Amino acid sequence: MTVACMKIGQEANCVIAGSAHPALARGIAGALATDLAIRTIERFPDGELHVQIDQSVRGSDVYLVQPLAPPAETHLVEFLLLADACRRAGADRITGVIPYLAYARQERRANGREALGARVIADTLGAGAVDRIVVVDVHATAIEGFFSCPVEHLTAVPLLADAIRLALPEDAILIAPDVGAVHLAERYARQLNIPVATVQKVRLGATEVRVQAIAGDVGRRAPVIVDDMLSTGHTVLAAANALLAAGCLPTFVVAVTHGLFTAGAVETLARLPIKQLITTDTLPQELAAPFPVRVISVAPLLADVIMRLHKAGSLAELLARG
Ligand code: R5P
Repeated sequence: MTVACMKIGQEANCVIAGSAHPALARGIAGALATDLAIRTIERFPDGELHVQIDQSVRGSDVYLVQPLAPPAETHLVEFLLLADACRRAGADRITGVIPYLAYARQERRANGREALGARVIADTLGAGAVDRIVVVDVHATAIEGFFSCPVEHLTAVPLLADAIRLALPEDAILIAPDVGAVHLAERYARQLNIPVATVQKVRLGATEVRVQAIAGDVGRRAPVIVDDMLSTGHTVLAAANALLAAGCLPTFVVAVTHGLFTAGAVETLARLPIKQLITTDTLPQELAAPFPVRVISVAPLLADVIMRLHKAGSLAELLARG
């Protein structure tokens, strides 16, 4: 049976989900008042992935939704296979909707003889697989320059700032938990109109972080720690302990775009007096935590972007700047 792509307005427009985050893809499709395209993703007995688009995409404007959630390598290969299947099936234009870009933290070489992981991923994704990529709050904005295809770098900061506002204590102060988060914290500051302090951190290992100094007066202030992502929780833990030692109030709001919550992260964070942790669903979220967690969906944002791209509308107000 051949099923045509759904129609939005008069033109064909397809949303196809990889297997990384079906719930987000369904949320996007729901916001667009349409169904996800039918596709098959399976593994051959030798472990190789095999994908197939089970409906016509010829002449369509295709949006392939696949955050590079762990295991990133599997989801990357799946994405590339889906894009290739769409291309060979005659799709007119393919946009990769990749709300979480894995390997983005490997955007520079800290030591010799390391790979520049972010560049490798950008080369792989930008080598003709898709025409355009949509990402959200990438670790470093300069990564856009690694791609040879156009990149729309969206931000979830306004969504998260709205949620923070509801939990905002008096005498709040935004905290960039490392120097890399300063621009992000300033974007929050513009939304929330509160000051920023910066923690200077050195990473000693995957789960070992040391704070060297705090720039800013945090005494008797209620910290709102903001970051692009939270993985093991050790950056937040180290920052919070240094802030407590510097006399901040023992109540933390933590807001991150990408909640990876790798093994042990919840236990690590549970050592802190967290009033609320706010994250988005750029990655699948099934967090059971002993502190309040709020998950804000980026599905309406991504649906809005898809509609604007499809109709050649402006994205200016949705893009990450600074
Ligand atoms: C690093 O520069 C990132 O912005 C995050 O601060 C970091 O990746 C968080 O990782 P973790 O939770 O494992 O400390």
